[in-house]
Amino acid sequence: ETKVTSEPKSNGMTNGGARIVDDDDDVLCPTDLSEMLAEGTKEAHDRAENCQLVKDFLRGRIKKELFKRGTAALYFVYSAMEEEFEKNREHPHIAPIYFPTELYRREALARDLEYFYGEDWESQISLSAATKPYVERIHKVGDKDPVLLVGHSYTRYMGDLSGGQILKKVAQRALKLPATGEGLNFYQFEDIHRHKGFKQLYRSRMNELELDTETKERIVDESNLAFGFNLMIFTEIEEIGRNIKEEVQDTGIGHSHAEIMEGG
Ligand code: HEM
Repeated sequence: ETKVTSEPKSNGMTNGGARIVDDDDDVLCPTDLSEMLAEGTKEAHDRAENCQLVKDFLRGRIKKELFKRGTAALYFVYSAMEEEFEKNREHPHIAPIYFPTELYRREALARDLEYFYGEDWESQISLSAATKPYVERIHKVGDKDPVLLVGHSYTRYMGDLSGGQILKKVAQRALKLPATGEGLNFYQFEDIHRHKGFKQLYRSRMNELELDTETKERIVDESNLAFGFNLMIFTEIEEIGRNIKEEVQDTGIGHSHAEIMEGG
């Protein structure tokens, strides 16, 4: 899959001249921030992907109430991230990855919440216990150590651009949402036409940031922290799901409600 050649990179190498080329012919370098992030968050990604809520979601077993709560949590998270991005948009470590038109999700989430909760959606949602520390952390780093926003941005936006289209289809089908995309604006990046191409641009922008190794490592740690916060929200929502009664949407014929609830 991955081949290593001894050809040095033309702009001088920091890793002894090993050049790694992946399937897409992108040049990979283990000291590139994008590589450090991909490698350094693999385990956290596995944990997120394999938690019960996500597994249920991928199987189309979604309760609308839980989907709404997830959307509300994301609204608070993206509001915090995008507020801090605005404050720091001229910071030399933020400006190169500042893509408000392409990436910002706050308004899309607001439209989704209006669809789910109605006009007075704002009075119907609140910051959950698990979402609060995530939001507080984003504000803290935005205030005290803005370079760490790179880790937050990576964890959410790159994830949204990776799995988003699949999740959109799953949700649309399971929740029987209209084909017009109402309620699913979050998943639709109107100003990004090729997700893969944009992710490549974003990676190269991250790699061009002038950062020492220690700072890159702190960004990876911050990204892992963000993964952890996301997992906490999933766990919280999963727990709420255990305590509410709502017929799952995608039931097969011949299963009792109890069986489905137990995963049988
Ligand atoms: C990348 C799937 C959950 C964050 C990816 C990729 C896939 C994927 C297939 C690889 C895309 C590529 O190689 O270009 C999934 C699935 C999930 C899930 C099926 C379960 C629903 C999450 C969650 C987060 C996340 C919960 C974080 C909150 C990321 C990030 C990347 C990524 C940051 C980019 C990795 C990189 O290229 O450096 N995901 N993911 N994912 N995902 Fe997920």
